[in-house]
This record gives sequence, structure tokens and C-alpha cells, in this order.
Amino acid sequence: MTPRDDAFAALEREHNRLGTIRIEQLVEREPARRDRMVHRLGPLQLDLTRQRIDSAALDALLALANARELRGAIDALFAGEPVNRSERRPALHMALRAPAPLADDRSAFAAAARLAATSADQVERLVDEVRSGEVTDLVHVGIGGSDLGPHLACDALAHEARGGPRVHFVANVDGTRVDRLVRTLDPRSTQVTLVSKSFTTQETLLNARVLREFVGAAAFARRTVAVTANREAAHAFGIDPARILPMWDWVGGRYSIWSAVGFPVAAACGNAVFRRLRAGAQALDAHYASAPFERNLPVLLALAGVWNRNVLGCPTLGIVAYDDRLELLPAFLQQLDMESNGKRVDEHGVPLARPAAPVIWGQVGTNAQHAFFQSLHQGVDTVPLDLVGVVRPCHALRANHDALLANFVAQSAALMLGTRAEDEPDAGLRAQKSSPGDRPHNIVLLDELSPESLGMLLALYEHKVHAQGRIWGVNSFDQWGVELGKKIAQRLQPAIEGGALPAGIDAATAALVREIRSRTN
Ligand code: F6P
Repeated sequence: MTPRDDAFAALEREHNRLGTIRIEQLVEREPARRDRMVHRLGPLQLDLTRQRIDSAALDALLALANARELRGAIDALFAGEPVNRSERRPALHMALRAPAPLADDRSAFAAAARLAATSADQVERLVDEVRSGEVTDLVHVGIGGSDLGPHLACDALAHEARGGPRVHFVANVDGTRVDRLVRTLDPRSTQVTLVSKSFTTQETLLNARVLREFVGAAAFARRTVAVTANREAAHAFGIDPARILPMWDWVGGRYSIWSAVGFPVAAACGNAVFRRLRAGAQALDAHYASAPFERNLPVLLALAGVWNRNVLGCPTLGIVAYDDRLELLPAFLQQLDMESNGKRVDEHGVPLARPAAPVIWGQVGTNAQHAFFQSLHQGVDTVPLDLVGVVRPCHALRANHDALLANFVAQSAALMLGTRAEDEPDAGLRAQKSSPGDRPHNIVLLDELSPESLGMLLALYEHKVHAQGRIWGVNSFDQWGVELGKKIAQRLQPAIEGGALPAGIDAATAALVREIRSRTN
């Protein structure tokens, strides 16, 4: 039986009180709704008015945040306390984008910020070198958090890229991408960036070997930049120690784009752009650390998510950005959210009373409208969404952009309103053609997609994940669940290569290996 939890019981009471009232009725009924549910920080606006909550329900959600002592948890995070309890580490990614600390500041945060500043200087020197040299192509090798952040930022800010090399990303252990890529490159002008916090990740090391062979061991040693917490392994791999940049155990991979992991962003767009990206995130940090919860963007985003997940019982969250430059946002948020809060026990190992992280998925608009929006409008399930829009484009194709924005606004209206009986005069097809509406969603609106606003957007979600992790009681900074599959793959590899099956392997797995082997030439 679920243990009694007064704060969640209050949410259930609010839910019962709201009954079957529709979002559009709430919008009409509450004139002050926008004051409470729309908040802005610089170029970023968060709008919760299309959630199935009213002011009283929002109060109950804020009371939940207080009951979970979220303020204390934020203070502990920024103070560098070991919030990652299972690994006894702090989570100080905010220090990677912090302003220079005062000389007499002896805090853990200041110590981390000093290390980060030294590394940022090293990055800038290496970026100046690559941007003023003969390198035409930079191949970034890394996976998960060592890939998704820089990949997303390079894509999102490609309109800022001037004077740097072309940047390519290789992540998957599937050799297809690296094989196709090297056919297009000149080894004499290719530089590799090798990013692996552990420097043991199979995918990254296999792809790095392919590239080391492609550019030649001597040039690889001379040119490659590595980013890792395992300097010895990187050196043993043949990388010049002067070109090995640090990672630290207080930065999780999925929170690492702000460190030297973001090297390709600076290489492609320049050091100033990378600094502006970090400054945007820093503005969000300052806001998360100090703004009252009533207008604290990450806290409000987190609370809307908790309502949808735990009160409405929705198991997924779709991310639809109406901007092609944010095509990788769902993939980035998948790792950020699901690797952080995809847990079934709390930080003390006790089974959770209610489910945590929803499944995150998504696609850019308007492509998404021609793929899965049918189901969002007329399917049985209620599927919450975050719709992300960008007001000003980076191009002069006005007609395209106006159409994009019209679709963004229209889908939000359609999701909320659905159809009315009078919309469909043909009674025979009314059931098939009508949409119920009342689909909860957030609007995240950026004035433009600049380095600053992108930094804010990513930090908004980082802190949302932290706030939700606190509310659910999970450790958002470990990821033990990814280990099992890696271990089994290691055990199975010899059998895939033609050797014996490992002892004690189950019958279904053994049969699949045999099947594959029987078809291998
Ligand atoms: O998928 C598990 C994981 O450990 C992620 O947390 C991490 O971002 C990724 O693998 C890459 O790890 P590394 O940077 O150590 O190669």
C-alpha cells in the first residue's frame, strides 16, 4: 500500500475538486492565471496556463515542493554537498559556468569554479590553435553525455559558426558512421576530439582506434584533444598530455557540455559563443538558486511535470520544438531526464511510492504534426507535451517562419480546445472527426535561439530534473542501471566472435547468439 503522504494527498484533493473541468474553462475562469503561470527570464518565457491546474492546485504543488524541502536541497546542491550519495560526490556542473569566485572564497563551489576556469582557459588556447591552423574537419568522438550536449549545441548554433572547422560527431559503436565519415575526410587536415570521462567506454575507444589509424598515430598524438577524468588511460592511448583536458567526478556526463566537453562548440563557433552559452546557463543558475518558487521557472516546470506524472498518471512527456535547430533536443533531454530520474527506488534504496521520470521522446514541429500528432489529438491516452517555439528566426525566409509560428500556435490551440459539435456538420462522421482537446502542455518560448537562450534552455531542464528528483526522492546523479547490459555484452562478445558461449547463459540469449552466428559469413 502506498504510504500516506500529506502533500500528495492534497494534490489528489485538488484533482477531485477540479473534476472534469477543462483547461479552456480554467483559462476563462481565472483572469489572473497568466500572472501566476507565465514567467520570463531574459529571452525565455515559460507558460503553464495550458495545464490542468488552477491557482489552488498550483498552491498545493508549491506546498509539495516545500514539504520536500526543495529549498534546502537547492542550497545543498550549490554548496557542493555530496548529493550523489551512492557515489559520495557533489554535483557541481553549475561551477563550470560560474563567474570567477572571490579570492578568499574557500567553498567547494569556488574550488570547483577555479578548476573549471583553468580548464576553460586551456580550451580557449586550443580553440585558437585549431581555428587559426590547417584543420578543416574536427571529429568529435564520445557517446551519451560526452556526445549529446556538444552535438545539440553545434547543431543549434550552426548559424553562429564562422571561421572554424566543420564538426562531425561519431558516437555509436556501429561502424557505419565512422566508416562513411572517413571516406569524406582528408587525414592531413582532420583533428579528433576524444571525449570520455571514464576513458573505458567501448564505443568511444573503438571509434577512436579507427580514427587513430585514419590520421596516423603520430598526427593523432600531435593533434588530438582528449577530455577525460582518466589522464593515464588517455596518455596510454597515445595522446599528448598537454592536450588532455580534465573532467572531474563532480560533473556527470549528461551535465558536462559546459566543460571542455563543449570544445567543438567553441571550435566551430568561437570562444565568445561558448562563453555566451555558459553565461545563459549561469543566469538560470542564479535564478534557480534564489527566485521564490512561485516564479522559479525550473521549479514550476518540475511541478507541472509531477502533476501530469503522478496525479493525471501520464507515463510519457513529448518534447516538440518548432525549430529545426533543436532537432536533437528530445535526445538530449531523454538522457538528461531518464538517466537522472529513471529510478524505481529512492536514494536510500527504498521502493518509490509513485513513479518517477516519464519516458521522454519527441521530434521537431512541423514534422511531428505529420507523424504522431494524430494520436495526440485523437488517441485514447493523454500525452503531455512541452512545445518549444522561437519567435525570431536566423534566416530571412519570412513566409516559412510565419507558417512555422502559425502551426506552433495552432497546435497548442487544437490540443487545448479540440473540436466542438458545430465544427463537424456531418453527424455520420462526427465521432471519427472530433478531437476531445483538453491535452495539457507547456509553452516554452524563446525570443531567438542565441547562445545565451540555448544555455538558459538547457539549464532550465537540468534544474527541472533536479527539482523533480528531490520531490520523488531519487538520486538524480547516478545511473547504475546502464551497467548490466554493458557487462553482459562483454561476456557475450567472445561468443559473437566465434568462441564458446559463456557458462550459465540463459537459453533465449544462447539461441539468439547461435542464430546470428549461423548467418555470419
Ligand atoms: O550510458 C552511460 C554513460 O556512463 C553515461 O552516463 C555517459 O554520459 C556515457 O556513458 C559516456 O561515458 P564516458 O564519458 O565515460 O565515455
